[in-house]
Amino acid sequence: MSLKILLLGKNGQIGWELQRSLAPLGELIALDRHSTGLCGDLADLQGLAKTVQTLRPDVIVNAAAHTAVDKAESEPELARTLNALAPGVLAQEAQKLGAWLVHYSTDYVFDGSGSKPWEEGDPTGPLSVYGQTKLEGEQLIQAAGPNHLIFRTSWVYAARGGNFAKTMLRLARERERLTVIDDQFGAPTGADLLADVTAHAIRCALHRAETSGLYHLVAGGETSWHGYASFVIDFARQAGIDIKVAQEAIQAVPTSAFPTPARRPHNSRLDTRKLQTTFGLTLPPWQQGVDRMLNEVFAQ
Ligand SMILES: NC(=O)c1ccc[n+]([C@@H]2O[C@H](COP(=O)([O-])OP(=O)(O)OC[C@H]3O[C@@H](n4cnc5c(N)ncnc54)[C@H](OP(=O)(O)O)[C@@H]3O)[C@@H](O)[C@H]2O)c1
Repeated sequence: MSLKILLLGKNGQIGWELQRSLAPLGELIALDRHSTGLCGDLADLQGLAKTVQTLRPDVIVNAAAHTAVDKAESEPELARTLNALAPGVLAQEAQKLGAWLVHYSTDYVFDGSGSKPWEEGDPTGPLSVYGQTKLEGEQLIQAAGPNHLIFRTSWVYAARGGNFAKTMLRLARERERLTVIDDQFGAPTGADLLADVTAHAIRCALHRAETSGLYHLVAGGETSWHGYASFVIDFARQAGIDIKVAQEAIQAVPTSAFPTPARRPHNSRLDTRKLQTTFGLTLPPWQQGVDRMLNEVFAQ
């Protein structure tokens, strides 16, 4: 059966990779907020509903969101429209059509306490407008009731565009000392991995409606931002890149050293057993994806 898939947010980190991974599944209509003809703007709720009604897709994949975590603190209404109301509208339209809705959420729905990886059913407690609005988005999808896959992920990077690893590499070439946060823990997760798992899960889910639900999806293992930066810089040094900072001059500091408008969770570990069991997948260690991304960066 050839599927019709509507992808929103086609030029974001995950959206870009989804254009590649969803293409073999059927007819892919990929939009962003500037698309003409069909509305792909999450701020235009009526236009969004009309797009779904016109296209009548089998699957809607929403990779668009208000992802500027600090900015969201000063524009909570816009963040709520994009992160909560728009997914809610997509869910209502999906429900009317009998379509699946695929959506991404975040570890920021949790308060970041403790050190145990969060399970899907654990109590939420967002610390920021971003986390609060993303949580409301999940709830509106669940309330509307279409078949859905919501993937909570964290610490997303992509080879294309800027990312934390590239910033660390640049700083490591320019400076003799670096300070990096060492009291937030998570798993750097590649947009390519997220897109590939999404495509696989869609293929499985279409034949198994009981898989509809919420899943944690991150790469395997865990690290801190300091551990991540140290890995990247060590990798670059071994690859023969001219690095100025000595490994022992990468200083570990607490979150309080970098005050930001939005509070971040300390514990962003996500337990992915439900996803791995349901879809028969193995999530590779985070180093594997970062290694690959760095090789791509060095090859440019
Ligand atoms: N990045 C992370 O670390 C992370 C962690 C956990 C969960 N997530 C979730 O993963 C999903 C994808 O994130 P990402 O990392 O791929 O983010 P991203 O690169 O910032 O992509 C988000 C996309 O949304 C688009 N967008 C913004 N406002 C829009 C609007 N009004 N209408 C339509 N599109 C709009 C952006 O377009 P413009 O470029 O034109 O603004 C951008 O292409 C989001 O649901 C996010 O909450 C991300």
